[in-house]
Amino acid sequence: MSNVTVIGTQWGDEGKGKIVDWLASRADIVVRFQGGHNAGHTLVVGDQVYKLSLLPSGLVRGKIGVIGNGVVVDPKALMTEIDRVTAQGLVVTPETLWIAENAPLILPVHGALDRAREAARGEHKIGTTGRGIGPAYEDKVARRAIRICDLAEPETLDWKLDELLLHHNTLLAGLGAETFTKEQLKDFLTEITPRLLPFSCQVWDRLDEARRAGRRILFEGAQAVMLDVDHGTYPYVTSSNTVAAVAASGSGVSPSSVGFVLGIAKAYTTRVGEGPFPTELHDQTGRTLGERGHEFGTVTGRPRRCGWFDAVLIRRAVRVGGVSGIALTKLDVLDGLDEISICVGYELDGQKTETFPSAPGAQSRVKPVYETMPGWKETTAGARSWAELPAQAIKYVRRIEELIEAPVTLLSTSPERDDTILMRDPFED
Ligand code: GDP
Ligand code: IMO
Ligand code: MG
Repeated sequence: MSNVTVIGTQWGDEGKGKIVDWLASRADIVVRFQGGHNAGHTLVVGDQVYKLSLLPSGLVRGKIGVIGNGVVVDPKALMTEIDRVTAQGLVVTPETLWIAENAPLILPVHGALDRAREAARGEHKIGTTGRGIGPAYEDKVARRAIRICDLAEPETLDWKLDELLLHHNTLLAGLGAETFTKEQLKDFLTEITPRLLPFSCQVWDRLDEARRAGRRILFEGAQAVMLDVDHGTYPYVTSSNTVAAVAASGSGVSPSSVGFVLGIAKAYTTRVGEGPFPTELHDQTGRTLGERGHEFGTVTGRPRRCGWFDAVLIRRAVRVGGVSGIALTKLDVLDGLDEISICVGYELDGQKTETFPSAPGAQSRVKPVYETMPGWKETTAGARSWAELPAQAIKYVRRIEELIEAPVTLLSTSPERDDTILMRDPFED
Protein backbone atom coordinates (compact mmCIF):
# COMPACT_ATOMS: atom_id res chain seq x y z
CA MET A 1 0.00 0.00 0.00
CA SER A 2 1.46 3.30 -1.07
CA ASN A 3 0.76 7.01 -1.09
CA VAL A 4 -0.12 8.63 -4.40
CA THR A 5 1.12 11.89 -5.92
CA VAL A 6 -0.89 13.47 -8.73
CA ILE A 7 0.86 15.86 -11.14
CA GLY A 8 -0.07 17.52 -14.44
CA THR A 9 2.01 16.46 -17.46
CA GLN A 10 1.06 19.17 -19.96
CA TRP A 11 0.38 22.90 -19.37
CA GLY A 12 -2.23 22.48 -16.63
CA ASP A 13 -6.00 21.94 -16.62
CA GLU A 14 -5.65 18.24 -17.44
CA GLY A 15 -8.42 17.37 -14.97
CA LYS A 16 -6.23 16.91 -11.86
CA GLY A 17 -9.06 18.09 -9.59
CA LYS A 18 -11.52 15.52 -10.90
CA ILE A 19 -8.99 12.69 -10.55
CA VAL A 20 -7.87 13.79 -7.06
CA ASP A 21 -11.51 13.96 -5.96
CA TRP A 22 -12.13 10.48 -7.36
CA LEU A 23 -9.02 9.00 -5.73
CA ALA A 24 -9.67 10.79 -2.44
CA SER A 25 -12.26 8.17 -1.51
CA ARG A 26 -9.28 5.82 -1.05
CA ALA A 27 -7.13 8.33 0.90
CA ASP A 28 -7.23 9.80 4.43
CA ILE A 29 -5.42 13.09 3.81
CA VAL A 30 -5.04 15.25 0.68
CA VAL A 31 -2.04 17.61 0.53
CA ARG A 32 -1.35 20.62 -1.73
CA PHE A 33 2.42 21.13 -1.91
CA GLN A 34 3.14 23.92 -4.45
CA GLY A 35 1.49 26.72 -6.40
CA GLY A 36 -1.23 28.95 -5.06
CA HIS A 37 -4.58 30.29 -6.17
CA ASN A 38 -3.34 30.41 -9.76
CA ALA A 39 -4.65 26.82 -9.85
CA GLY A 40 -8.28 26.23 -10.78
CA HIS A 41 -9.73 22.77 -10.26
CA THR A 42 -13.32 21.98 -11.24
CA LEU A 43 -15.08 19.04 -9.60
CA VAL A 44 -18.50 17.84 -10.69
CA VAL A 45 -20.45 15.72 -8.21
CA GLY A 46 -24.06 15.16 -9.27
CA ASP A 47 -25.63 18.60 -9.59
CA GLN A 48 -22.93 20.31 -7.51
CA VAL A 49 -19.95 21.99 -9.16
CA TYR A 50 -17.00 22.87 -6.92
CA LYS A 51 -14.36 25.30 -8.15
CA LEU A 52 -11.27 25.11 -5.99
CA SER A 53 -8.09 27.16 -6.28
CA LEU A 54 -6.27 26.86 -2.99
CA LEU A 55 -8.22 24.29 -1.01
CA PRO A 56 -7.16 20.66 -1.49
CA SER A 57 -9.73 18.78 -3.58
CA GLY A 58 -10.07 16.04 -0.92
CA LEU A 59 -12.15 18.37 1.27
CA VAL A 60 -15.11 17.66 -1.01
CA ARG A 61 -14.96 14.01 0.14
CA GLY A 62 -14.79 15.08 3.79
CA LYS A 63 -11.09 14.16 4.01
CA ILE A 64 -8.45 16.18 5.84
CA GLY A 65 -7.01 18.85 3.55
CA VAL A 66 -3.46 20.15 4.00
CA ILE A 67 -1.81 23.24 2.56
CA GLY A 68 1.93 22.58 2.74
CA ASN A 69 4.84 24.97 3.15
CA GLY A 70 5.53 24.86 -0.61
CA VAL A 71 2.26 26.68 -1.35
CA VAL A 72 2.03 30.49 -1.45
CA VAL A 73 -1.11 31.52 0.45
CA ASP A 74 -3.26 34.54 -0.37
CA PRO A 75 -5.24 34.79 2.88
CA LYS A 76 -8.09 36.85 1.41
CA ALA A 77 -8.53 34.44 -1.51
CA LEU A 78 -8.42 31.53 0.93
CA MET A 79 -11.17 32.97 3.14
CA THR A 80 -13.36 33.79 0.14
CA GLU A 81 -12.96 30.21 -1.06
CA ILE A 82 -13.71 28.78 2.37
CA ASP A 83 -16.88 30.91 2.55
CA ARG A 84 -17.93 29.76 -0.93
CA VAL A 85 -17.51 26.03 -0.32
CA THR A 86 -19.04 26.31 3.16
CA ALA A 87 -22.15 27.76 1.50
CA GLN A 88 -22.10 24.64 -0.70
CA GLY A 89 -22.18 22.43 2.39
CA LEU A 90 -18.51 21.54 2.95
CA VAL A 91 -17.03 21.62 6.44
CA VAL A 92 -13.80 23.59 6.69
CA THR A 93 -12.47 23.96 10.24
CA PRO A 94 -9.01 23.79 11.85
CA GLU A 95 -9.76 20.06 12.33
CA THR A 96 -10.30 19.45 8.60
CA LEU A 97 -7.86 21.98 7.13
CA TRP A 98 -4.23 22.19 8.28
CA ILE A 99 -2.06 24.99 6.91
CA ALA A 100 1.73 24.99 7.29
CA GLU A 101 2.77 27.83 9.58
CA ASN A 102 5.96 28.21 7.51
CA ALA A 103 4.02 28.88 4.29
CA PRO A 104 4.69 32.33 2.76
CA LEU A 105 1.83 34.80 2.30
CA ILE A 106 0.74 36.53 -0.88
CA LEU A 107 0.09 40.19 -0.01
CA PRO A 108 -1.57 42.93 -2.10
CA VAL A 109 1.91 44.18 -3.17
CA HIS A 110 2.53 40.88 -4.96
CA GLY A 111 -0.53 41.04 -7.20
CA ALA A 112 0.19 44.70 -7.96
CA LEU A 113 3.79 43.93 -8.96
CA ASP A 114 2.76 40.87 -11.02
CA ARG A 115 0.29 42.98 -13.03
CA ALA A 116 2.58 46.00 -13.39
CA ARG A 117 5.40 43.82 -14.68
CA GLU A 118 3.17 42.01 -17.15
CA ALA A 119 1.97 45.37 -18.52
CA ALA A 120 5.59 46.51 -18.86
CA ARG A 121 6.62 43.33 -20.70
CA GLY A 122 4.38 44.17 -23.66
CA GLU A 123 4.64 41.57 -26.42
CA HIS A 124 6.88 39.35 -24.27
CA LYS A 125 4.34 39.05 -21.48
CA ILE A 126 3.99 35.63 -19.85
CA GLY A 127 0.23 35.75 -19.54
CA THR A 128 0.30 35.15 -15.77
CA THR A 129 -2.88 34.88 -13.76
CA GLY A 130 -1.99 38.26 -12.20
CA ARG A 131 -2.41 36.84 -8.72
CA GLY A 132 1.04 37.63 -7.37
CA ILE A 133 2.37 34.08 -7.50
CA GLY A 134 5.75 34.93 -9.07
CA PRO A 135 6.54 37.91 -6.78
CA ALA A 136 5.54 35.87 -3.68
CA TYR A 137 7.92 33.02 -4.59
CA GLU A 138 10.66 35.56 -5.35
CA ASP A 139 10.24 37.01 -1.85
CA LYS A 140 10.44 33.54 -0.32
CA VAL A 141 13.75 32.80 -2.02
CA ALA A 142 15.02 36.31 -1.26
CA ARG A 143 14.25 35.68 2.44
CA ARG A 144 11.90 38.63 2.83
CA ALA A 145 8.54 36.79 2.71
CA ILE A 146 6.03 37.24 5.52
CA ARG A 147 5.16 33.71 6.63
CA ILE A 148 2.02 32.68 8.47
CA CYS A 149 3.92 32.14 11.75
CA ASP A 150 5.11 35.79 11.64
CA LEU A 151 1.51 36.91 12.21
CA ALA A 152 1.81 35.80 15.84
CA GLU A 153 4.86 38.03 16.40
CA PRO A 154 4.01 41.74 15.95
CA GLU A 155 7.63 42.81 16.56
CA THR A 156 8.91 40.51 13.78
CA LEU A 157 6.17 41.65 11.46
CA ASP A 158 7.14 45.26 12.01
CA TRP A 159 10.71 45.01 10.72
CA LYS A 160 9.83 42.50 8.03
CA LEU A 161 7.20 44.86 6.60
CA ASP A 162 9.82 47.65 6.40
CA GLU A 163 12.15 45.41 4.44
CA LEU A 164 9.39 44.16 2.15
CA LEU A 165 8.09 47.64 1.38
CA LEU A 166 11.53 49.07 0.69
CA HIS A 167 11.93 46.46 -2.04
CA HIS A 168 8.44 46.51 -3.50
CA ASN A 169 7.80 50.23 -3.44
CA THR A 170 11.07 50.84 -5.26
CA LEU A 171 9.98 48.47 -8.00
CA LEU A 172 6.37 49.63 -8.14
CA ALA A 173 7.40 53.28 -8.33
CA GLY A 174 9.89 52.46 -11.09
CA LEU A 175 7.13 50.79 -13.06
CA GLY A 176 4.82 53.78 -12.57
CA ALA A 177 2.42 51.76 -10.39
CA GLU A 178 0.85 52.77 -7.09
CA THR A 179 2.97 52.14 -4.00
CA PHE A 180 1.78 50.82 -0.60
CA THR A 181 2.04 52.21 2.93
CA LYS A 182 2.96 50.15 5.97
CA GLU A 183 -0.46 50.97 7.43
CA GLN A 184 -2.22 49.48 4.40
CA LEU A 185 -0.38 46.18 4.78
CA LYS A 186 -0.78 46.19 8.56
CA ASP A 187 -4.54 46.74 8.23
CA PHE A 188 -4.71 43.89 5.70
CA LEU A 189 -2.83 41.54 8.04
CA THR A 190 -4.72 42.63 11.17
CA GLU A 191 -7.99 41.81 9.45
CA ILE A 192 -7.02 38.31 8.32
CA THR A 193 -4.90 37.15 11.28
CA PRO A 194 -7.68 36.04 13.67
CA ARG A 195 -9.24 33.86 10.95
CA LEU A 196 -6.05 32.48 9.47
CA LEU A 197 -3.90 31.63 12.51
CA PRO A 198 -6.22 28.93 13.96
CA PHE A 199 -5.67 26.83 10.82
CA SER A 200 -1.87 27.02 11.04
CA CYS A 201 0.21 24.25 12.53
CA GLN A 202 3.42 22.24 12.09
CA VAL A 203 2.15 20.29 9.11
CA TRP A 204 5.31 18.18 8.78
CA ASP A 205 4.81 16.85 12.32
CA ARG A 206 1.16 15.93 11.80
CA LEU A 207 1.97 14.25 8.47
CA ASP A 208 4.71 12.25 10.16
CA GLU A 209 2.24 11.12 12.83
CA ALA A 210 -0.25 10.20 10.10
CA ARG A 211 2.42 8.18 8.31
CA ARG A 212 3.25 6.27 11.51
CA ALA A 213 -0.45 5.54 11.99
CA GLY A 214 -0.58 4.02 8.49
CA ARG A 215 -2.79 6.76 7.02
CA ARG A 216 -2.89 7.06 3.23
CA ILE A 217 -1.77 10.39 1.83
CA LEU A 218 -2.71 11.79 -1.57
CA PHE A 219 -0.49 14.65 -2.78
CA GLU A 220 -2.30 17.01 -5.15
CA GLY A 221 -0.12 18.84 -7.65
CA ALA A 222 -1.18 22.07 -9.33
CA GLN A 223 -0.05 23.37 -12.74
CA ALA A 224 2.05 20.86 -14.68
CA VAL A 225 5.50 19.75 -15.83
CA MET A 226 5.55 22.06 -18.88
CA LEU A 227 4.90 24.98 -16.48
CA ASP A 228 7.65 23.85 -14.06
CA VAL A 229 10.13 26.66 -13.41
CA ASP A 230 13.09 24.39 -14.29
CA HIS A 231 11.70 21.82 -16.70
CA GLY A 232 8.96 23.76 -18.48
CA THR A 233 8.87 26.22 -21.37
CA TYR A 234 10.87 28.84 -19.45
CA PRO A 235 10.28 31.78 -19.12
CA TYR A 236 6.64 31.04 -20.01
CA VAL A 237 6.12 29.01 -16.85
CA THR A 238 4.86 29.42 -13.31
CA SER A 239 7.23 30.18 -10.43
CA SER A 240 7.29 26.83 -8.64
CA ASN A 241 8.55 23.34 -9.34
CA THR A 242 5.59 21.16 -10.23
CA VAL A 243 7.26 17.76 -10.46
CA ALA A 244 6.45 14.99 -7.98
CA ALA A 245 9.74 15.36 -6.08
CA VAL A 246 8.41 18.62 -4.65
CA ALA A 247 5.56 16.84 -2.86
CA ALA A 248 8.15 15.90 -0.23
CA SER A 249 9.91 19.25 0.24
CA GLY A 250 6.66 21.20 -0.17
CA SER A 251 5.01 19.48 2.77
CA GLY A 252 7.92 18.30 4.92
CA VAL A 253 7.83 14.53 4.41
CA SER A 254 10.42 12.00 3.30
CA PRO A 255 11.02 11.59 -0.47
CA SER A 256 9.95 7.97 -0.07
CA SER A 257 6.45 9.16 0.94
CA VAL A 258 5.69 10.39 -2.58
CA GLY A 259 4.66 6.85 -3.60
CA PHE A 260 2.94 6.15 -6.92
CA VAL A 261 3.21 9.15 -9.23
CA LEU A 262 0.07 9.51 -11.30
CA GLY A 263 0.58 11.88 -14.22
CA ILE A 264 -2.59 13.45 -15.59
CA ALA A 265 -2.77 13.97 -19.36
CA LYS A 266 -5.60 15.21 -21.53
CA ALA A 267 -6.30 13.13 -24.65
CA TYR A 268 -5.30 16.31 -26.57
CA THR A 269 -3.41 19.41 -25.41
CA THR A 270 -4.37 22.84 -24.09
CA ARG A 271 -2.51 25.86 -22.80
CA VAL A 272 -3.62 29.19 -21.24
CA GLY A 273 -1.30 32.17 -21.38
CA GLU A 274 1.62 32.80 -23.70
CA GLY A 275 4.51 30.62 -24.79
CA PRO A 276 5.49 27.86 -27.23
CA PHE A 277 2.94 25.15 -28.05
CA PRO A 278 4.12 22.97 -30.98
CA THR A 279 0.84 21.14 -31.67
CA GLU A 280 -1.45 24.17 -31.34
CA LEU A 281 -4.26 24.16 -33.93
CA HIS A 282 -5.45 27.50 -35.32
CA ASP A 283 -8.10 25.88 -37.50
CA GLN A 284 -11.66 24.59 -37.08
CA THR A 285 -10.43 21.39 -35.36
CA GLY A 286 -8.78 23.51 -32.66
CA ARG A 287 -12.00 25.48 -32.19
CA THR A 288 -14.04 22.25 -32.09
CA LEU A 289 -11.80 20.82 -29.33
CA GLY A 290 -12.17 24.09 -27.38
CA GLU A 291 -15.97 24.12 -27.70
CA ARG A 292 -16.46 20.42 -26.93
CA GLY A 293 -13.99 20.47 -24.07
CA HIS A 294 -15.37 23.77 -22.66
CA GLU A 295 -11.80 25.01 -22.69
CA PHE A 296 -11.95 28.25 -20.74
CA GLY A 297 -9.57 28.96 -17.85
CA THR A 298 -11.18 28.29 -14.45
CA VAL A 299 -9.26 31.18 -12.86
CA THR A 300 -9.18 33.85 -15.54
CA GLY A 301 -11.96 32.77 -17.96
CA ARG A 302 -9.48 33.09 -20.86
CA PRO A 303 -10.08 30.71 -23.79
CA ARG A 304 -7.52 27.90 -23.71
CA ARG A 305 -5.39 27.31 -26.79
CA CYS A 306 -6.04 23.78 -28.13
CA GLY A 307 -4.04 21.24 -30.14
CA TRP A 308 -3.24 17.58 -30.70
CA PHE A 309 -1.70 15.22 -28.15
CA ASP A 310 2.06 15.72 -28.00
CA ALA A 311 3.61 12.35 -27.15
CA VAL A 312 7.16 13.75 -27.19
CA LEU A 313 6.41 16.28 -24.46
CA ILE A 314 4.53 13.76 -22.33
CA ARG A 315 7.33 11.21 -22.62
CA ARG A 316 9.64 13.91 -21.32
CA ALA A 317 7.20 14.76 -18.50
CA VAL A 318 7.02 11.06 -17.62
CA ARG A 319 10.81 10.87 -17.26
CA VAL A 320 11.40 14.19 -15.53
CA GLY A 321 8.35 13.89 -13.30
CA GLY A 322 9.00 10.30 -12.31
CA VAL A 323 5.54 9.28 -13.52
CA SER A 324 4.53 5.68 -12.71
CA GLY A 325 1.23 5.72 -14.60
CA ILE A 326 -1.03 8.08 -16.53
CA ALA A 327 -4.64 9.10 -16.03
CA LEU A 328 -5.88 10.00 -19.51
CA THR A 329 -8.77 12.50 -19.35
CA LYS A 330 -11.30 14.00 -21.74
CA LEU A 331 -11.21 11.08 -24.18
CA ASP A 332 -14.90 11.87 -24.86
CA VAL A 333 -13.96 15.23 -26.42
CA LEU A 334 -12.43 13.32 -29.36
CA ASP A 335 -15.68 11.38 -30.06
CA GLY A 336 -16.88 11.70 -33.65
CA LEU A 337 -13.67 13.12 -35.17
CA ASP A 338 -12.80 11.58 -38.56
CA GLU A 339 -9.09 11.54 -37.85
CA ILE A 340 -6.93 12.07 -34.81
CA SER A 341 -3.27 13.10 -34.89
CA ILE A 342 -0.52 12.43 -32.38
CA CYS A 343 2.78 14.30 -32.39
CA VAL A 344 5.55 11.68 -32.50
CA GLY A 345 8.58 13.88 -33.20
CA TYR A 346 9.64 17.35 -34.35
CA GLU A 347 11.38 19.11 -37.13
CA LEU A 348 13.69 21.92 -36.08
CA ASP A 349 15.27 24.11 -38.76
CA GLY A 350 14.92 21.30 -41.31
CA GLN A 351 16.31 18.56 -39.03
CA LYS A 352 14.27 15.74 -37.50
CA THR A 353 14.53 15.52 -33.72
CA GLU A 354 12.81 13.70 -30.89
CA THR A 355 13.94 16.13 -28.22
CA PHE A 356 12.24 19.35 -27.29
CA PRO A 357 14.86 22.13 -27.17
CA SER A 358 15.37 24.33 -24.10
CA ALA A 359 15.81 27.82 -25.57
CA PRO A 360 12.59 29.80 -26.19
CA GLY A 361 13.43 30.68 -29.81
CA ALA A 362 14.02 27.05 -30.77
CA GLN A 363 10.96 25.95 -28.76
CA SER A 364 8.77 28.27 -30.79
CA ARG A 365 10.29 27.09 -34.10
CA VAL A 366 9.78 23.31 -33.68
CA LYS A 367 7.23 21.85 -36.05
CA PRO A 368 5.37 18.69 -35.04
CA VAL A 369 5.65 15.47 -37.02
CA TYR A 370 2.28 13.70 -36.84
CA GLU A 371 1.04 10.16 -36.96
CA THR A 372 -2.63 10.08 -37.92
CA MET A 373 -5.22 7.50 -36.88
CA PRO A 374 -8.89 7.08 -37.80
CA GLY A 375 -11.25 8.38 -35.13
CA TRP A 376 -14.39 6.66 -33.80
CA LYS A 377 -18.07 7.38 -34.41
CA GLU A 378 -19.38 5.87 -31.16
CA THR A 379 -19.59 7.87 -27.94
CA THR A 380 -17.21 7.31 -25.08
CA ALA A 381 -18.82 10.05 -22.96
CA GLY A 382 -19.87 8.59 -19.62
CA ALA A 383 -18.18 5.20 -20.16
CA ARG A 384 -17.34 3.51 -16.86
CA SER A 385 -15.69 0.34 -18.12
CA TRP A 386 -13.08 -0.61 -20.69
CA ALA A 387 -15.69 -2.87 -22.36
CA GLU A 388 -17.83 0.18 -23.22
CA LEU A 389 -15.05 1.77 -25.29
CA PRO A 390 -15.01 1.50 -29.10
CA ALA A 391 -12.13 -0.53 -30.56
CA GLN A 392 -10.62 2.52 -32.22
CA ALA A 393 -10.59 4.48 -28.95
CA ILE A 394 -8.77 1.56 -27.30
CA LYS A 395 -6.23 1.60 -30.15
CA TYR A 396 -5.65 5.31 -29.53
CA VAL A 397 -5.01 4.71 -25.83
CA ARG A 398 -2.68 1.78 -26.56
CA ARG A 399 -0.69 3.81 -29.10
CA ILE A 400 -0.29 6.62 -26.57
CA GLU A 401 1.04 4.13 -24.00
CA GLU A 402 3.67 2.91 -26.47
CA LEU A 403 4.76 6.40 -27.42
CA ILE A 404 5.00 7.89 -23.93
CA GLU A 405 6.52 4.73 -22.44
CA ALA A 406 4.11 4.64 -19.48
CA PRO A 407 0.90 2.72 -18.78
CA VAL A 408 -2.52 4.39 -18.80
CA THR A 409 -3.88 3.32 -15.41
CA LEU A 410 -7.02 5.50 -15.28
CA LEU A 411 -9.34 6.92 -17.94
CA SER A 412 -11.83 9.75 -17.59
CA THR A 413 -14.81 10.09 -19.91
CA SER A 414 -16.76 13.10 -18.59
CA PRO A 415 -16.51 15.85 -15.94
CA GLU A 416 -18.69 13.78 -13.58
CA ARG A 417 -16.86 12.13 -10.66
CA ASP A 418 -17.91 8.54 -11.40
CA ASP A 419 -17.39 8.56 -15.17
CA THR A 420 -13.96 7.10 -14.62
CA ILE A 421 -12.37 3.78 -15.62
CA LEU A 422 -9.81 2.28 -13.26
CA MET A 423 -7.30 -0.13 -14.77
CA ARG A 424 -4.86 -0.24 -11.87
CA ASP A 425 -5.39 1.14 -8.36
CA PRO A 426 -2.40 3.40 -7.67
CA PHE A 427 -2.79 2.96 -3.90
CA GLU A 428 -2.30 -0.80 -4.27
CA ASP A 429 0.98 -0.47 -6.14
P1 GDP B 1 -7.15 20.85 -13.38
O1 GDP B 1 -6.65 22.25 -13.24
O2 GDP B 1 -6.12 19.91 -13.89
O3 GDP B 1 -7.82 20.35 -12.13
O4 GDP B 1 -8.28 20.90 -14.50
P2 GDP B 1 -9.48 21.97 -14.61
O5 GDP B 1 -10.51 21.60 -13.60
O6 GDP B 1 -8.95 23.36 -14.61
O7 GDP B 1 -9.96 21.70 -16.09
C1 GDP B 1 -10.45 20.47 -16.51
C2 GDP B 1 -11.89 20.64 -17.00
O8 GDP B 1 -12.29 19.48 -17.68
C3 GDP B 1 -12.89 20.81 -15.85
O9 GDP B 1 -13.92 21.67 -16.29
C4 GDP B 1 -13.41 19.41 -15.63
O10 GDP B 1 -14.74 19.39 -15.11
C5 GDP B 1 -13.39 18.86 -17.03
N1 GDP B 1 -13.11 17.41 -17.12
C6 GDP B 1 -12.31 16.63 -16.36
N2 GDP B 1 -12.26 15.37 -16.83
C7 GDP B 1 -13.04 15.36 -17.94
C8 GDP B 1 -13.38 14.35 -18.91
O11 GDP B 1 -12.92 13.21 -18.85
N3 GDP B 1 -14.22 14.72 -19.92
C9 GDP B 1 -14.72 15.98 -20.04
N4 GDP B 1 -15.52 16.26 -21.07
N5 GDP B 1 -14.43 16.96 -19.15
C10 GDP B 1 -13.59 16.65 -18.14
P1 IMO C 1 -4.05 24.27 -12.75
O1 IMO C 1 -3.62 23.78 -11.40
C1 IMO C 1 -3.13 26.37 -16.44
C2 IMO C 1 -0.12 29.53 -16.24
C3 IMO C 1 -0.62 30.94 -16.51
C4 IMO C 1 0.63 31.53 -17.15
C5 IMO C 1 1.76 30.89 -16.36
C6 IMO C 1 2.31 31.76 -15.24
O2 IMO C 1 -5.48 24.68 -12.82
O3 IMO C 1 -3.65 23.33 -13.83
P2 IMO C 1 1.37 32.42 -12.84
O4 IMO C 1 0.15 33.21 -12.45
O5 IMO C 1 1.42 31.06 -12.26
O6 IMO C 1 2.64 33.20 -12.61
O7 IMO C 1 1.24 32.27 -14.45
O8 IMO C 1 1.22 29.70 -15.80
N1 IMO C 1 -0.85 28.82 -15.17
C7 IMO C 1 -1.75 27.86 -15.41
N2 IMO C 1 -2.25 27.38 -16.56
N3 IMO C 1 -3.52 25.82 -15.27
C8 IMO C 1 -3.01 26.27 -14.11
O9 IMO C 1 -3.25 25.66 -12.93
C9 IMO C 1 -2.11 27.36 -14.13
N4 IMO C 1 -1.43 28.05 -13.18
C10 IMO C 1 -0.67 28.93 -13.83
O10 IMO C 1 -1.71 30.94 -17.39
O11 IMO C 1 0.74 31.09 -18.47
MG1 MG D 1 -7.16 24.17 -13.83
